[in-house]
Order: sequence, then structure tokens, then C-alpha cells
Amino acid sequence: MSAPGQAVLLIGSPRGGRSTSAQLGEVLVAGLKKRGWTATTHVARTAIANTSSWSELERAAAAAELVIVATPLYVDSLPAPLIETFERLHALRRTATPPQAQRLIAVVNSGFPEASQNDTALAICRCFARRAGFHWDGGLALGMGGALSGHAITEHGRTHAVAAALHRAADELAAGGPLSAGAIQALARPMMPVWLYRLIAEVSFRIAAWRYGTRHLGARPYAREDD
Ligand SMILES: Cc1cc2nc3c(=O)[nH]c(=O)nc-3n(C[C@H](O)[C@H](O)[C@H](O)COP(=O)(O)O)c2cc1C
Repeated sequence: MSAPGQAVLLIGSPRGGRSTSAQLGEVLVAGLKKRGWTATTHVARTAIANTSSWSELERAAAAAELVIVATPLYVDSLPAPLIETFERLHALRRTATPPQAQRLIAVVNSGFPEASQNDTALAICRCFARRAGFHWDGGLALGMGGALSGHAITEHGRTHAVAAALHRAADELAAGGPLSAGAIQALARPMMPVWLYRLIAEVSFRIAAWRYGTRHLGARPYAREDD
């Protein structure tokens, strides 16, 4: 077990603290804190919009041993505020790299059921880590993110497998190692059968549409070819 260190949780979701990304990241951070680590949390959207928040993030990222990026998948990529954060950090680190070794991991969640949807976004995080001088310690992917929205991740009930996978990942990170294939596979395991997730998503879409007074979900008003 390596000595407890300092971690930074960087939330890529524009939904900030209410996001599924924040929930996933906070469970990882709680696991590290249990082992004596300290951590600060930063929301990319807030940091790029506010000079003092950016300075705090910059300082924390320079002092950390471990950076945890927790983000949703947006159009097979990353949300714009997180991309800007990566660009700014990369530019800074071209002139000054902190003296201590630094590791970076990412946890990406998506709305589609398959965890593999997140592969490209994780590859973007890996490229950022390597080019900005962090050691890439691996990426966690989770599909069916919608199933976690608004639900606490706990050791009991239907989120227990997610909690167990994140606790395992936190143990590995606290021990100084990269994420294992076992932890990555455990988080990627579907939380429920795909057909059930699709059914719940379909019903939720219809209820949301009904609340907004929309009746024609399949409407394609600009699809006329004679226009
Ligand atoms: C603008 C936008 C683009 C999205 N693009 C994708 C996508 O390409 N694939 C996917 O599976 N989910 C996509 N989603 C769904 C989110 O990844 C999903 O709802 C996720 O759980 C949100 O996490 P958060 O609460 O951390 O923001 C998108 C959502 C939004 C708002």
C-alpha cells in the first residue's frame, strides 16, 4: 500500500454536482478518503467560466498525485467544457510540469446500454493524459447511465454491483496501481437486461414528452424531399 496522497476529482458533466458523473466520482473519492487520502472536487463548466475557480483547479491539479476525470459521453466525445479544461491544462503543462509523478484515470458514463460506447471518449482522455505528462492508469466505462440518474450508489439494492466495482477500483488506486481488468469489467457489466433498460427509457421519454405537451415523437417536419 503506497502512502495516502492527494486527489483531484474533475467533473466533466455540465450538470455538475447533480450528475451521474459526480455520483460515480464521489464514490471513488470516498474510497480513497477511507484510506487517508485528501481530495478536492472541481466542475469543468464552473472552472472555465470563473477565474478564481480556474485558479483553484489549476493549483489542485498541480499538487495532486491522482486526477480522476468523471464525465458523461456527449455525441461519442466529451462535453465542451471538459475539452476546454484539457486544452488549458495541456497548454500550462507545456511550460511547467509538477515535480511529483502524477496519475490520471477517467470514468465515463453513457445513456446507451453498452459500456463500449464510451471507448472513444476514454481514448481521448488517455491521449490527453499522455500528452499532458500524466501516467494513464486506466479508464472505467459504464453504460445505462440513465438508470443511476437521481439514485444514490449504495452497497445494497440495484446499484450494489456499481458500488462494489468502484470500491475495488478505489482500493487499487490507493495501493498505487493502475485499474485492473477485473475492476474495469465489473463496472462495465450491465445493471439490468438491455430490453428492460430500453423499455424504461421508452416509457420515460413518452412521459417527458407528454409533460411538455408533445404528442408526435416520430415527427420529421424537415424530411420532405421536395423542399
Ligand atoms: C448533448 C448530449 C449528448 C449525448 N450523447 C450521447 C452519446 O453519444 N451516446 C450515449 O450513449 N449517450 C449520450 N448522451 C447521454 C448521456 O451520456 C447520459 O445521459 C449520461 O448518463 C449523463 O451523465 P451525467 O449525469 O454525468 O451528465 C448524451 C447526452 C447529452 C445531453
